[in-house]
Amino acid sequence: MLVITATDDGLLTAVVDGCEAGRVRVRPGTSTITDLYVTPAHRGRGHGRRLVAAAECRLREAGMTRADVDVPGPDDGFFARLGYDVAAQQRARDLAGPLAPEGVALVTLTDPGRRLAALADEYALDLQEDEHLTPRAARHAAERRLSELRDPRDHMCTVTARDEEVGWAWLGAPRRAYPEMGRLVQIEIDEPYRGSGFGTRALAAVQGKMRDQGLSRIGLNVHGANARARRLYDRLGFAVTSQQMVKDLRGRW
Ligand SMILES: CC(C)(COP(=O)(O)OP(=O)(O)OC[C@H]1O[C@@H](n2cnc3c(N)ncnc32)[C@H](O)[C@@H]1OP(=O)(O)O)[C@@H](O)C(=O)NCCC(=O)NCCS
Repeated sequence: MLVITATDDGLLTAVVDGCEAGRVRVRPGTSTITDLYVTPAHRGRGHGRRLVAAAECRLREAGMTRADVDVPGPDDGFFARLGYDVAAQQRARDLAGPLAPEGVALVTLTDPGRRLAALADEYALDLQEDEHLTPRAARHAAERRLSELRDPRDHMCTVTARDEEVGWAWLGAPRRAYPEMGRLVQIEIDEPYRGSGFGTRALAAVQGKMRDQGLSRIGLNVHGANARARRLYDRLGFAVTSQQMVKDLRGRW
């Protein structure tokens, strides 16, 4: 028989016939479920599902309206089957192999103000939706988070084709923990030019530039709802290295 015990610091333990079968943690004061683990001998019997259900129950009792999980690597369908949606993904790929930027060039953006202001507008709309912030709070948070992301070593550039500006990209300098990995903070093709292969070619140009800088990998973050960008990254071999998933706890249960 399965019994789930809980401690005040948010650790839930599944015990079967006196043996520990698995555990999960609800991070105190947050909506985050972490450290889900079922011992190999007890897998495939629904204990993981029951542990997550118990963790969600704790969150509801604490007044939380959502549950968040960090999944290392792509979700194998476990959390999706439990009703979790992708909130964001981290993706990466090696800068190996041929690249075809055909006809697309990256030109340093001397005044990124207009592009950054438009990015802050879009980011603020996402934050209103995702974090239920007021428009004013969302705008403030978007500007603050974007300025925290900026590094003087970053490179912002326009994407041009036949000397015409078709979009822009923000190439982030590597973080200390991953010195070999360039970061693509943002890439955008302006609306009238989308769906014509510019995104694909701009990404090839970005990767070529990073390779020229001696980097061997490129990493990026993509919003879960951005199906178009996710498709593009799938097609270009950007593997999911981790993802955040979220479930609305307000419905029936
Ligand atoms: C994501 C984004 C950069 C893609 O740019 P794009 O220029 O539309 O990309 P592409 O044209 O190369 O590819 C898009 C589609 O057009 C198709 N396409 C049409 N003509 C094409 C051509 N000549 N060559 C290649 N692909 C072509 C592609 O097959 C692709 O189809 P898919 O959506 O089924 O994968 C663009 O939609 C954008 O700027 N979005 C807003 C900003 C954003 O979300 N940025 C990503 C942040 S992580």
